[in-house]
Amino acid sequence: MSSKFLCTSDTLAEGQYREFRVSDPDLAITVCHEGPIDLVVTRHQGMAKAWLNVCPHQGRSLNIAPDRFITDDENRLVCCVHGAVFEPSQGRCVSGPCLNACLKTIHLIESEGSVALATD
Ligand code: FES
Repeated sequence: MSSKFLCTSDTLAEGQYREFRVSDPDLAITVCHEGPIDLVVTRHQGMAKAWLNVCPHQGRSLNIAPDRFITDDENRLVCCVHGAVFEPSQGRCVSGPCLNACLKTIHLIESEGSVALATD
């Protein structure tokens, strides 16, 4: 499996949500548009996780400003548009207008201090 470097492990703290922009050929998934793709990346229970930064409710970006995400008092990701709440284990909506819908998972590989996108 090949991969593309995303960030160093020490720059992705437990519970932190970060935004990354990548070009779509970097991804191992088919995305229905061309051009850069925005991701939300976090670390949950030690595991680096990534999803498309696209809310399943109305397809809007989850963040309120570049690299700034809203969280609730349980550190779950909250969409800034209509308040859908996503748990950080599977990216599933647990509250709000798209209940039980999931963010699109992007597969990551973490080894030797680096977090990378799986590209095939
Ligand atoms: S677009 Fe995210 S909750 Fe509506």
